Amino acid sequence: MKKIILLLFLLPTLTFSNYWGKTGHRVTGHIAENHLTGKAKRALKDLLDGHSLAFVSTYADEIKADRTFSKFSAWHYVNYPLDMRYEDAPKSDYGDLIVGIEKCIEIVKNKDNPRANRVFYLKMLVHLIGDLHQPLHASRAEDKGGNDIQVQWFGEGSNLHRVWDKNLIESYGMTYTELANELDQVSRKERKKIQEGTIYDWVQESHEICAEIYNSAQIGEKLGYQYSYKYNDILFQQLQRGGLRLAKVLNDLFA
Ligand code: ADE
Ligand code: ZN
Ligand code: ZN
Repeated sequence: MKKIILLLFLLPTLTFSNYWGKTGHRVTGHIAENHLTGKAKRALKDLLDGHSLAFVSTYADEIKADRTFSKFSAWHYVNYPLDMRYEDAPKSDYGDLIVGIEKCIEIVKNKDNPRANRVFYLKMLVHLIGDLHQPLHASRAEDKGGNDIQVQWFGEGSNLHRVWDKNLIESYGMTYTELANELDQVSRKERKKIQEGTIYDWVQESHEICAEIYNSAQIGEKLGYQYSYKYNDILFQQLQRGGLRLAKVLNDLFA
């Protein structure tokens, strides 16, 4: 009986892989919420029927299991050589994270588009700005952003991608609201600095962190407390940047 109960708890974590976990996306959404202009707040309230950014931030992962939406699956990440910039790298025929973000902005911006479309792409956008800040979503193709690099996390099988999508953040043991409040302690000056730049700069920053992460663990390595201690600052920094920049993107979009 105990085993069955354990399996029921484990099943969702085994079947849904491959995303900056729900907590990461919600932290990003919750931080963004605190930095919106009045205009953006009103537009979002209308388009999202009063739902929060944290609430809608996981939508793009929820629809992944539905094949109708399979054309969007390449939008969650971008892979290119570690020593290249996105602008100079060969592009995927299926689109990528940057193509996805730009398409979302274009569709949401145009008020002539059907409301349902604008809502759909807005929810995608909230999610994709989160993914942009998971360094292994701006990664290299050979190992599928670390998905093929098997490691152990506190004695359980995992992979480097999953460690950064969810293991690190979940083992920290804080709820998304607690984490968001904790990470939202920035001065106005710091916030402005973080919000500078373009999505091309932000993807480059993630890509460089990604290169560092590839050097952080060997195949089969046993990761745990020591790894958390060493890398939590980077994780928290990326979550904070994601939140503040999501606010910036939305404020500009609804200006
Ligand atoms: N599949 C292939 N590359 C990936 C990446 N970088 N992130 C998530 N899924 C992927
Ligand atoms: Zn992922
Ligand atoms: Zn995603």
